[in-house]
Amino acid sequence: MLIFVTPGTLEQDNVTDTLWTAGATGLEERAGMLRAYFNERAEVPLAGEWVDEQERDWQAEWKKDLKPVQAGHFTIAPSWLRAEVPPAQRPILIDPGMAFGTGHHATTRLAVEAISELQLQGKDVLDVGTGSGILALAALLQGAAQVLGVDIDPVTIPAAYENALLNGLQRTGNTLKWEGRTLQFIESSLDDDHEGEYDLLIANLYAELHDLLAGNYRAIMRPGAQLILTGILQDKLPLVQSALAREGFEDVRTRQEGEWLLVMAHTPREV
Ligand SMILES: C[S@@+](CC[C@H](N)C(=O)[O-])C[C@H]1O[C@@H](n2cnc3c(N)ncnc32)[C@H](O)[C@@H]1O
Repeated sequence: MLIFVTPGTLEQDNVTDTLWTAGATGLEERAGMLRAYFNERAEVPLAGEWVDEQERDWQAEWKKDLKPVQAGHFTIAPSWLRAEVPPAQRPILIDPGMAFGTGHHATTRLAVEAISELQLQGKDVLDVGTGSGILALAALLQGAAQVLGVDIDPVTIPAAYENALLNGLQRTGNTLKWEGRTLQFIESSLDDDHEGEYDLLIANLYAELHDLLAGNYRAIMRPGAQLILTGILQDKLPLVQSALAREGFEDVRTRQEGEWLLVMAHTPREV
């Protein structure tokens, strides 16, 4: 990219007119200097100098800065950094795109860490607001028998399927399989048709929505089922705590990273 750099400001019409007339394709002002962009060198009747700047590959620079993120025994990494996952860690490969959930946000990390501590063999799991599919994948890799990820944003569903394939799952129609266990992603909010069917419900949304949905969460969870909610700012914790108390959740515990909280609770066990 060819740039002619000359002293001046965008308000100096005599200077800018000269640059446009000489063939500039764009003008920019930085610290009292005008930068005029040209497709090729031209006669410019002004004092200044030509600079040939390499086009910067922003995508490559941004990719270079991404680092794998550790959460419990999982390490979340983009596919091109697979080799950087320490051997003792379990990789979750997520390529960044339009959907939230690369592990670089505290709420995602807190949730993956909490999932990594659970025994999920044979369990049914619902991930509400699945985004990139990261929490649903973590639950499946942690041993869950069946996982459903739902999101109201249609761009997330293809991204979640892509990420699942990166992690070695096999897709047939809308069902992903891994070691005999199944994962599906659907564009939806809560899965209200499945009353009392989940052993674990995970939702990284926000406090006000948890407050609104707490009764719906309870209705679709089995007795003694685990709830993991995050996306909760510290000062909104009382709202979530009172919603969980209202709906009869028990054993409410919290974890914190910076200003973000994760809340765990369970439904009453059957007597
Ligand atoms: C903060 S992101 C969480 C993504 C991922 N689960 C994670 O933990 O990184 C929240 C996601 O919830 C979705 N969402 C918001 N409201 C929802 C609702 N009522 N039902 C289902 N998904 C919802 C958004 O589209 C977004 O993808």
